Amino acid sequence: MAIEQTLSIIKPDGVKKNVIGKIVALFEENNLKITASKMVQLTRAEAEGFYAVHKARPFFGELCDFMCSGPVVLMVLEGEGAIAKNREIMGATNPANAAPGTIRKLFASSIGENTVHGSDGPDTAKTEIAWFFAGNELFSR
Ligand code: CMP
Repeated sequence: MAIEQTLSIIKPDGVKKNVIGKIVALFEENNLKITASKMVQLTRAEAEGFYAVHKARPFFGELCDFMCSGPVVLMVLEGEGAIAKNREIMGATNPANAAPGTIRKLFASSIGENTVHGSDGPDTAKTEIAWFFAGNELFSR
């Protein structure tokens, strides 16, 4: 399988619950390396731009309000099949449907406050990484 990069966000609820380390440990235990990382508080405009694909959805406003309600941790994860692997580790979007042991089953409280985001495909991963990280913030390890 090819080595891929994917964007991961620990959302404001994950940061507030103080589980950054537990989430990172799950990535590392599954052979994903962090090749970029920073904590930021998104502006409303950054959240709206990042989630522009969901603009027409009824939950768009709520999603953007939530995403800029507190600091988030942005990371690039790298590894074999990293995009699918990260999605497996995260679990289903709605924590009620997430498999045991996944991040969302362990830590998320609702579909809106679902603790993590991960890119859903190679094109999205490229766009999402470039949305948050400049070339000199990405490392080869
Ligand atoms: P994420 O993987 O970040 O991608 C889009 C986000 O929209 C998703 O996780 C959820 O947090 C959010 N979302 C999806 N469906 C709903 C919904 N029905 N109500 C509120 N938020 C939603």
